[in-house]
Amino acid sequence: MSVRDRWYQDAIVYCLDVETYHDANGDGVGDFVGLMAKLDHIAGLGATCIWLLPFYPTPNRDNGYDVCDHYAVDPRLGTLGDFVEFVRAAEARGLRVIVDLVVNHTSDQHPWFQEARDPDSDRHDWYVWSDERPEDHDEGMIFPGEQETVWTYDRKAKRYYLHRFYAHQPDLNIANPAVRAEIERVMGFWLRLGVSGFRIDAAPFLIEHKGLDEVPGTADPYEYLRDFRTFLSWRRGDAVLLAEANVDPEKAPHYFGDGDKLHMLFNFVLNQHLFLALARQAKAPLERGLLLPPKPPEAGQWATFLRNHDELALARLTEAQRDEIAEAFAPDREAMWVYNRGPRRRVPPMFDGDAARVRMAYSLMLSLPGAPVIRYGEEIGMGDDLSLPERTAVRTPMQWSDKKNAGFTASDEPIRPVIDSGPFRYQNVNVDRQRREPDSLLMWMERAIRARKEADVFGRGDWHVVDTDHEAVFAHVCERDGVAVAAVHNLGDEEAGVTLDLSPYADRTTLDLLDPGDDAPPIEDGTLAVTLPRYGFRWFRLERER
Ligand code: GLC
Repeated sequence: MSVRDRWYQDAIVYCLDVETYHDANGDGVGDFVGLMAKLDHIAGLGATCIWLLPFYPTPNRDNGYDVCDHYAVDPRLGTLGDFVEFVRAAEARGLRVIVDLVVNHTSDQHPWFQEARDPDSDRHDWYVWSDERPEDHDEGMIFPGEQETVWTYDRKAKRYYLHRFYAHQPDLNIANPAVRAEIERVMGFWLRLGVSGFRIDAAPFLIEHKGLDEVPGTADPYEYLRDFRTFLSWRRGDAVLLAEANVDPEKAPHYFGDGDKLHMLFNFVLNQHLFLALARQAKAPLERGLLLPPKPPEAGQWATFLRNHDELALARLTEAQRDEIAEAFAPDREAMWVYNRGPRRRVPPMFDGDAARVRMAYSLMLSLPGAPVIRYGEEIGMGDDLSLPERTAVRTPMQWSDKKNAGFTASDEPIRPVIDSGPFRYQNVNVDRQRREPDSLLMWMERAIRARKEADVFGRGDWHVVDTDHEAVFAHVCERDGVAVAAVHNLGDEEAGVTLDLSPYADRTTLDLLDPGDDAPPIEDGTLAVTLPRYGFRWFRLERER
């Protein structure tokens, strides 16, 4: 396979929740028809792939991650027909679509679970049951503070069922071949409707033992990931699996395999160290976060992100490191922190709206190894609403304009309040306005994404860190097939001058990639001298003389 065919390695992913993106029919809930009307915005930004958060029928007690029918579209969002139209319209703009595959658990309202509550039914073994409540029933909870146990008693079954997440999300028993077959049917269904792959929700829990070791041939739960891959590849050769797996770096190779398991993993380790570096205004944690995760196999790739729809999960850092991040970015811990894991805030409010710092952070996301994943609203610097519970704070409707409800809906009752006070209110922060301002974050982001696509070597070249002799200034070089680029970022709030040793590139000239009009400093005697303002950054192409 040609490297060019591995579209996901160079993808610019844009993720969104249909429910909060754009409402076309005026019922207050975003829908597929509304999303279709905004595809030019997404394509114009430069994204190449859309990741849709769950859009399936759901009681919606966990933002749709509580699915009660895996083969349908939530009627509030549209129909299967709308979905197919959407995929086609995206494709026409060069955008692929990947969807969330939520099969670690279902909603307790799912007909499968309702049937399974009868211990004599064939469905019973689709879930994980126990007659006694295991002693360690309060260990391994995902939502401490909101959850008290992972084993809840079901009165009808008269047994306890396992749920890693909320009690209304019983875990499926993937040791059961019938469940595995059903998961394949679900994947096969959406592939037929045109999707280019899946984000695998809660991957580490999905493959947890849960009795798997009792099934012959399944002692190694990671083997299941190979089955996933094989199935996917037979059904659609260019489709990908992107796993949500916030695991220790040593575990990552089990997920990638030799390129025969999952294609992509979110780089949670890099993400957490990056935030520590931003909080400290020091490059050391970032360098560590880059070096800790293993290099993915040839056909693999990391997904690099700043924030997602959940809290900023900091479980891989130490308590003291988390405290540093809290002090910098969530000073009111009571209001701004959840599940004992991290801030429930978006990036711009964490930076007190400092535009230079926000751009620097996104410049890092776009230039660090991996495929960048942008979350809706990040392109305009949306804020959060801490008056909403838990993670809902970062899930407010997209801000399109300064019209009623930010142009999200014509209804008087949006599914969730639009941010309409404080510095991030929609009257200030919206797409319409930023389109008209050449210096806006949106216009900058479009240019930066274009530059990133032109220099895709940032995403999957061989990279190395370049010493800057300055605590706050991080520099790295990426190279592939003779193409080399360098980026320098000042994480600190003071101007900084650095000299980089680029002796291997002594014979090259420099070109400024982000502002091609700007003069780039030359490499002289193998060194490059750069002065950066507070939170400044620059990207250079190191070009061979013709
Ligand atoms: C993942 C999702 C999160 C959800 C959970 C349960 O962690 O990112 O939003 O609550 O899975 O499905």
